[in-house]
Parts: sequence; structure tokens; C-alpha cells
Amino acid sequence: MDAPVPQPDRPARADEIRDGQRVTWAGLSTSWEKWDSVIVEQLAPVCAAMVEHLDLAEGQQHLDIASGTGEPGLSIARLAPQGRVVLTDLVPEMLGIATRRARAQGVTNVETTVCSADELPFDDAVFDSVSVRFGYMFFPDMAKATAEFVRVLRPGGRLCSSVWVKPGQNPWTAIAMQAIATEAVVVPPDPDGPNMFRCAAPGSVAALYQEAGLHDVAEWDVDVELVTRSAEQYWEMISEHVSLAVAALQQVDESARARIRARAIAEVSAFERDGTIRVPGVARCIGGTK
Ligand SMILES: C[S@@+](CC[C@H](N)C(=O)[O-])C[C@H]1O[C@@H](n2cnc3c(N)ncnc32)[C@H](O)[C@@H]1O
Repeated sequence: MDAPVPQPDRPARADEIRDGQRVTWAGLSTSWEKWDSVIVEQLAPVCAAMVEHLDLAEGQQHLDIASGTGEPGLSIARLAPQGRVVLTDLVPEMLGIATRRARAQGVTNVETTVCSADELPFDDAVFDSVSVRFGYMFFPDMAKATAEFVRVLRPGGRLCSSVWVKPGQNPWTAIAMQAIATEAVVVPPDPDGPNMFRCAAPGSVAALYQEAGLHDVAEWDVDVELVTRSAEQYWEMISEHVSLAVAALQQVDESARARIRARAIAEVSAFERDGTIRVPGVARCIGGTK
């Protein structure tokens, strides 16, 4: 009889996911800094929708989870300069960019803490609001992370997060991924492992909120648009900073990469308008109250 295959226990799997995420995002950080202004503009409608739901007031304490290069935490800090905003992320390289952006913008009411979303080094009920923009899908244990967000929120405080809906509604990534798939095997991601579209199913994050005891849970879609100066710039940006594309492109050689690039540029050229490339997408915001 075959020996049973050892199954990693949950903590070991969580460590493995966190370690993988540290490597991935440390590697992507330079590209996120390079493309900062394009990313900020693309995701501005999501930032605005989250800020509106959080119902911020001056002088409050806000926690931004998986802040990466600082959004939406820095926008919140600018809106409420008498408040305090804590930017957190698993990856110091990403928070280093957030710190540089804060300095460049003259924002002084922010601080950074390196930590994982599912193990927050904060006391209970200390924050008036919590935001998580495009972070949920990368957490090792999304239920544990949600319980942590609820723990650190004061009663009546609000949580708002955002995730991507399915690739078909996000041509800004789908065009590049389809071009890559003509030359490389794009393995469907593990549905329980970290990936950009892990939380695409309607209601998936809302269910986590409800399980964690939040009330007034609601979700709504927000349209975004990726605007680049040219089709070539679209490809350069996507191939350098989108985690799924960067990973898939590591499998191909230079000539395949050139063919993928040509295909993606040809496809995305259909989105030319007034001399710029404008590719749509859809995110989902999820809000709830403690
Ligand atoms: C797509 S970026 C989002 C950054 C930013 N919130 C934004 O919307 O521009 C995802 C971020 O999640 C972070 N991340 C991944 N796993 C994490 C974890 N377990 N805890 C906290 N942050 C994590 C990554 O380091 C990365 O900065």
C-alpha cells in the first residue's frame, strides 16, 4: 500500500502563502513605483467609492490593510489631516514606496507597520475605520483576517474592501493574459490560493463579513478604466506590474515574448480613443459595520 501523502497543516500552508507573497510583491515593487501615477488614476474610482462608504470624520484613527504603495490610506490621510492613518502591508519594499509617496505629497499624519493581515499587532477596538483595497485575494486565511479587522474596529466602525470581478469583465488584464496564453501554458490558479481573481464570485467577501459578525453588509460594482498613452505603453505597464502576467511571462523565451507583445498591442489598439488607449474593468466594493 502507498504511504499516505503528508498534508501540510494549516499554519504551514499559511506560512508558505505569506512567504510566496513576500517574494512576489518585493519583486513587483519597483514596477509599482514606476507605474504609480497610471495605477493611481485607474483605481481612483475605487478609492472614491471606499472613502464614501467609510463615512470618515476629522480626527479619527484609520487602518489601511495591504496598503502596498499607500492607497487608499494616503488619500484618506489627505482628506482628514487631523486624523491618524496606519498603513500596513506584509512587504517592507511596498511600504517603503508608500513612505516616499507620503513625503512627496507632504502627508505627515501617516505611519507604517509591516504585518500580515491575519495577525494584526493592534489592540481591540482602536480604529474608527478599516480599508483593504485589492488585498483580500492574497491573504493566507481570509476568515481569520476578517476576524482581525473586526477585532480592531470600534463598535459602529466601518470596514470597506475591494476585489476584482471575473476576468471577462476586466479586459485590461484579460487582453494581456489571452495573448500570453497563445504561447505559454497559463495554469488556472488554485481557487484556494492567492491570486488576483480569487474573490471574484459575488458574495464571497460579503459572506466573510457576515460570518465575522458585521452588519449592514453590502457590495456594489465600480467601473474603472486603464488609460495609457499608447498600446505599447499598455503592454509595458501590464507586463511589468500585473502579478499573473509577470508570473506567466517567466515561462517564455525572448521570441515568444515578442510575439505575445505584438498580439497584445494589436488587440488593445481597438481601445484607442482620442489618441489614448482606454481599457475598461470592473471592481467590487464590499462594506460592513461593526
Ligand atoms: C494589489 S496590491 C494592493 C496595494 C494597494 N492597496 C492598492 O490598492 O494599490 C496587494 C498588496 O497586498 C499585500 N499583501 C499580500 N499578502 C498580504 C498579507 N498576508 N497581509 C498584508 N498584506 C499582504 C502585498 O504585499 C501588496 O502590497
